[in-house]
Amino acid sequence: MSQYKDTVLVSGGAGYIGTHTAVALVEAGYDVVVIDNFSNSEPSAVEGLEKIIGRKVAFEEVDTCDLEALRGVFERHEFSTVIHFAAYKAVGESMTEPLKYYQNNLVSYMNILQLMKEFKRPNVLFSSSATVYGDAEVLPVTEETPRQPATSPYGNTKQIAEDILRDCCRAYEGFFGIALRYFNPIGAHPSALIGELPRGVPNNLIPFVTQTAAGVRECLSVFGNDYDTPDGTCLRDYIDVLDLAKAHVAAVDRMVDHKMKEKYEIFNVGTGTPVSVLELITRFMKATGVDLPYKIVGRRAGDVPAVWADTALANKELGWKAERDLDDTLRASWNWEKRVRGIK
Ligand code: UFG
Repeated sequence: MSQYKDTVLVSGGAGYIGTHTAVALVEAGYDVVVIDNFSNSEPSAVEGLEKIIGRKVAFEEVDTCDLEALRGVFERHEFSTVIHFAAYKAVGESMTEPLKYYQNNLVSYMNILQLMKEFKRPNVLFSSSATVYGDAEVLPVTEETPRQPATSPYGNTKQIAEDILRDCCRAYEGFFGIALRYFNPIGAHPSALIGELPRGVPNNLIPFVTQTAAGVRECLSVFGNDYDTPDGTCLRDYIDVLDLAKAHVAAVDRMVDHKMKEKYEIFNVGTGTPVSVLELITRFMKATGVDLPYKIVGRRAGDVPAVWADTALANKELGWKAERDLDDTLRASWNWEKRVRGIK
């Protein structure tokens, strides 16, 4: 009898959400097998994760697009469940390099699914995104809110991947899937041993905020203040990465404990509270005491004015709720940036 509840394969497990989820899984009594090709992450992330849990993890440097290499992982390790994080995620880049996105995000995913089927491993948890809702007519969005046609190849890979999982669950016996639709993940582990490590100029708001606070960037640009929102800037649902990680544990529990009501299920993972870009900047400055130079510039192409989650389904079915305080989350992001930059 193993000392662990079960084993979970975490693809992209050296990434931002992957590392935090691996920690949460281990803390909840699971063992993990972590794979990553370091295409957008660093070996130091795995070291950080190991420091937090106080032991080594089974780690293999594998490209999930390499079917034979991935088959080796399935041959070497027993696990019931995969959480598939491994994917490219830059919306803008996907517009200029669509093939790179379709190739990487879909081939890696199909390889995982094919091997899950071949090796009779039952449970697939997929990292989806609120991007599938596009510019929704009614807010907050529920899982029933119709998806809008994707506005980027990145977003399209998320929609296609959701559909592939639905079809596999429908067709194959003993095959179960959950898609978690993440809203805007932010924050970092309180130890500051793991966090978000974007390469080059960050696309997302919080890494840009913390890099500006650290003096790496001169000034934060706020993309548009003429939206039809209370202060004119976009509204988003910022979810702490620790809460997000716990949602994965709840979803894995649901699969492993055979509590699913359908063979394929979808859950929103957000806080349910919309926050504007300007509010976030103000909260960051107050919570950290750091001054943040910013200016209003034009809108960024492709941004929706507002999106936030109705979390009732996840609250009820997963028994999960976002709990972290936004100020603590913002301080954690800042502490992580300070550690990365060697700022005292
Ligand atoms: N923003 C700025 N300045 C910046 C960066 C962002 O004002 O330097 C604004 C954006 O305009 C937006 C908000 O901050 O209003 C959040 O932007 P992010 O890029 O952090 O997040 P998005 O909501 O655009 O992106 C998220 C996920 C993607 C997903 C996308 C689509 O990170 O994975 O939602 O909805 F595809």
